[in-house]
Amino acid sequence: MRSKIIIANWKLNGNWSFNEEFASALSKGLKEIDLKDRQIVICPPNVYLQQMNGLLLEKSIFLGGQDLSDELSGAFTGETSGAMLKDFGCRYVLVGHSERRERHFETLDVIVKKAVNAISAGITPVVCVGETSEQRQNGMMKEVLSEQIQSLVTGMGDQIDAVVLAYEPVWAIGTGETATLEQAQEAHQWLRSEIEKVNPAIAQKLPIIYGGSVKAGNAAELLQVADIDGLLVGGASLVPHEFLSICLAGL
Ligand code: 13P
Repeated sequence: MRSKIIIANWKLNGNWSFNEEFASALSKGLKEIDLKDRQIVICPPNVYLQQMNGLLLEKSIFLGGQDLSDELSGAFTGETSGAMLKDFGCRYVLVGHSERRERHFETLDVIVKKAVNAISAGITPVVCVGETSEQRQNGMMKEVLSEQIQSLVTGMGDQIDAVVLAYEPVWAIGTGETATLEQAQEAHQWLRSEIEKVNPAIAQKLPIIYGGSVKAGNAAELLQVADIDGLLVGGASLVPHEFLSICLAGL
């Protein structure tokens, strides 16, 4: 059985006092709970990594970055490398989130470079894939996912073994419209079968998590879906009691 991963993506949110309150509520809420191998990951903005590293003391809570550079070092103003994230205690990093694909024009090649850099730095890349609403309406969901997976498989080879995949249908992000359990399972199963074609052993153990309007009210049922191995949570991860119930959902 694959263990579950619950990731909070704070995006451009949080501040010093909110972070303190959040960390204290989460640590209190998870204290002495048997999470059964479940990992909880908080991805705050980079400037708060050090603060959060000092606050998240429960051993099941890990830190993650929201992005990393596709370069290792040098004249790249504003960038953060995988090694730097590692220095600040990150165990995970999001790669290729649709907000970065859209706003920062991240291509599949750049996403592969970032994922490889994360692995070289000893950090697990959480690579985001997913189709837009238009692509789904045009019946292209599987084709789009296959192209994204193909690029990862070609660019990373067996290193894909060290990746967490996140299926985030773009139409479900921040819209309140969650994928139905059937839609989510269909996409997750498709992603797994695409990897199976290249490496069945990796496909079986690769965690594929779901993101897109996850809330306390739908977390438990999503986590019961066969090929869903965790959740990537945006808006609801900013409300401490709501995120806590997502962390505990279905336990
Ligand atoms: P929401 O949970 O706000 O829909 O955001 C999902 C997301 O983008 C997580 O990375």
